[in-house]
Amino acid sequence: MLTRTSRYALTAMTTLMVAASGFATASVAEPAFKEHCSKCHARASSVARSFDGSEEQRKKAFDRFLSTHYAEDPQVRAKIIAYLLTAAQ
Ligand code: HEC
Repeated sequence: MLTRTSRYALTAMTTLMVAASGFATASVAEPAFKEHCSKCHARASSVARSFDGSEEQRKKAFDRFLSTHYAEDPQVRAKIIAYLLTAAQ
């Protein structure tokens, strides 16, 4: 059985892992899109459908493309990709 302390530690760790893995809600990622992309792409939905395939394939295609297209920073890129994947739905 977990003690109160270790249960707290587990929750804190999970929260950190989710944050670090680049899962971001639209409200978090939108400023990044605005800052890095909206100058040329007014609406995310116009670029969000660029690549076909499963979510995993699209994520990889975005990652490859954006690494040389205005989102060189991997952390910024992860946020923008998470946002684009939700924006395309
Ligand atoms: C300075 C202008 C500019 C900025 C900033 C910019 N883009 Fe683009 N982007 C373009 C142009 C022009 C094209 C179309 C020509 C091309 O494919 O290179 C394009 C194409 C794309 C495509 C289509 C690729 C394809 O092959 O279908 C995607 C996706 C995209 N941009 C996403 C982004 C994202 C996300 C950002 C922010 C990180 C961004 N762009 C920032 C100008 C820009």
